[in-house]
Amino acid sequence: MQDKFKENAKIENISKNWSGRFNEPVAELVKHYTASVGFDQRLAEFDIQGSLAHARMLGAQGIISVADVQAIEHGLAEILQEIKSGSFAWLLELEDVHLNIEKRLTDKIGDAGKRLHTGRSRNDQVATDVRLWLRAVTDEVITHIRKLQLAIVDLAEQHVDTVMPGFTHLQVAQPVTFGHHLLAYFEMLQRDAARFADARRRINRLPLGAAALAGTSYPINREMVAHELGFDGVCENSLDAVSDRDFAIEFTACAALVMTHLSRFSEELILWSSPRFGFIDIADRFCTGSSIMPQKKNPDVPELVRGKTGRVNGHLVALLTLMKAQPLAYNKDNQEDKEPLFDSADTLLMSLQIYADMLGGIKVDKAAMRLAAAEGYATATDLADYLVKKGTPFRDAHEAVALAVRHAAGKGCDLADLPLQELQQFSQLIADDVYAVLTLEGSLASRNHIGGTAPQQVKQAIARARVRLSAG
Ligand code: ARG
Repeated sequence: MQDKFKENAKIENISKNWSGRFNEPVAELVKHYTASVGFDQRLAEFDIQGSLAHARMLGAQGIISVADVQAIEHGLAEILQEIKSGSFAWLLELEDVHLNIEKRLTDKIGDAGKRLHTGRSRNDQVATDVRLWLRAVTDEVITHIRKLQLAIVDLAEQHVDTVMPGFTHLQVAQPVTFGHHLLAYFEMLQRDAARFADARRRINRLPLGAAALAGTSYPINREMVAHELGFDGVCENSLDAVSDRDFAIEFTACAALVMTHLSRFSEELILWSSPRFGFIDIADRFCTGSSIMPQKKNPDVPELVRGKTGRVNGHLVALLTLMKAQPLAYNKDNQEDKEPLFDSADTLLMSLQIYADMLGGIKVDKAAMRLAAAEGYATATDLADYLVKKGTPFRDAHEAVALAVRHAAGKGCDLADLPLQELQQFSQLIADDVYAVLTLEGSLASRNHIGGTAPQQVKQAIARARVRLSAG
């Protein structure tokens, strides 16, 4: 901070566009406090795109000359190169990305550069830049959700009939297949992708033309600009166009939901990879060791995804709070939308990419999963259903099986290990055929309907998932 301060103090006499109104220069600390160029320079490419479309429209409408448009095009093309190559000198003194680029343009091409801002304000300019940037990011997010879904389907396909205990309250409940369990996350991500696609429709509207807040007196053509920038249409109300950031809030809410889903997945990966469970092994490249305990292999990546969920949830609350009670129209509060939004996007994109790769490197210990299912009385419900099918009312069957489980637990064995005579103490309806029901495979196969865990169903669900993925 101190160094930046000194650096900034060296920049002198850079006149601000509105400086004629003021009697004294802006205080040094205030410059630092109000500047956004440190973070909004990542909008540069979109700022230039927006300026080009605006300038071409001004030219087409005869508001500026064709020669001016050409000069602006050349100047902005050079500036884009400077920015991409890293040679562009960003000046804190010039506050934000918009003024930095405009000043450089004017230095390069003179008066034509000064005409670019005709019929425009930074208020509609920044809203346009953020929407263009966010539209591109949303598309990228959807692509990476799809990739992760594909990684899930690929892993599920290898485990269509791998038995594991299904849990409720983190206690063994009923056997499921690992493939079926994984596909639950496919569904969550499917809804996540749909949410982003829906949010995109509201992001993709053009604010330019709203100017500062009320529109502009020049004979502009907003549809032309919208079309050139690939927007689906214009924002209908100028006050709304410059002031609301609901599209950014919506994106962050969608991001928070994806992270929340990934945090659940992470929690499971952490549990499953712990030696107590021993269900899976996460590839070494996603783990670290302990500096003191040589035996440790820590699942750092899932832990960080779980932790970073808090960060994105926090950004959502920050943006909601930023917008709350702001009077119309633009207020400088809105400059604070960028850092939470940028960080949400960065965190989400990185988490999605790392996750797809991590799933590809997971090794499954089928024997450990099976043992855990076999030891947990996971087929107790199947025994109750067996009795119901033989005429016992469900509540009575439930009670009979509860007593049988208690008996088996007392002997330290599973239900399937009890001899027929012992099982018959709990119901005379139990016969030899009960053992087929008490097996894990029998239990799985019996849940044979759409959405059920039977391997046959999981296979079909995977085929449908692939079709849904290719449908986009
Ligand atoms: N840097 C500002 C932002 O991010 C640009 C808009 C500023 N407009 C203004 N009238 N001060 O919101």
